[in-house]
Amino acid sequence: GAATDLAGRHVVVSAGGTREPLDPVRFLGNRSSGKQGYALARTAAARGARVTLVAANSALPDPAGVDVVRVGSAVELREAVLRAAADADAVVMAAAVADFRPAVYATGKIKKKDGQEPEPLALVRNPDILAELSAARLRAGQVVAGFAAETDDVLAHGRAKLAAKGCDLLVVNEVGESKTFGAEENEAVVLGADGTETPVPYGPKEALADTVWDLIAARLPAGGSP
Ligand code: PMT
Repeated sequence: GAATDLAGRHVVVSAGGTREPLDPVRFLGNRSSGKQGYALARTAAARGARVTLVAANSALPDPAGVDVVRVGSAVELREAVLRAAADADAVVMAAAVADFRPAVYATGKIKKKDGQEPEPLALVRNPDILAELSAARLRAGQVVAGFAAETDDVLAHGRAKLAAKGCDLLVVNEVGESKTFGAEENEAVVLGADGTETPVPYGPKEALADTVWDLIAARLPAGGSP
């Protein structure tokens, strides 16, 4: 699309990986660097959008001209995304969000006790933010997009996830210990709820981001934020 096809639009992007605290010094986390989400934020700003970037534990510097909200856990990310999404034309969930968190947060550092086996770690479900956004449609005509990080049967799992989440677009990418996480490049297939499948060849994360915005721009109703 044209360089300013998102002018007058407000878009929300989540990036990075959530950390689910166990105690003041430990957390359950994942390998997301935030690079894919930051690429989405930068490219949307370059196309004229007002961008809110909700960043979970990324070491990357704030992109110029983007409103950045920094969060830690999935619960914090949910709150920040829902607040920003209230008047958004589009929301893209690129963050790697933990499905579960420790059932108990220990306010003091958990100690190992001599001669005792470790306690099993009890987990509870986190809210599914993408499913909630898709069901709520906080603003009329809002386009909701997610990512699917898969290690195997990537497309089959992606198609099932699109149906389960109820979003308009799902960007399916393969991940591994050193695949996609932290990398400068990515490849993906963007699945549409309308049945379209758009393959994006291996290349810079900005190129995938621009394709995502092309597909979102094509789905936005005419007009924009007043
Ligand atoms: O940050 P990088 O190093 O650049 O790596 C990029 C990436 C691999 C993190 C990114 O491309 C990616 O795939 N992000 C989504 C990771 C993820 O959480 O995938 P998932 O398949 O577990 O979740 C599916 C979708 O639901 C995602 O849009 C996720 O944000 C969302 N979700 C998941 C769980 C949850 N409780 N709430 C959610 O909203």
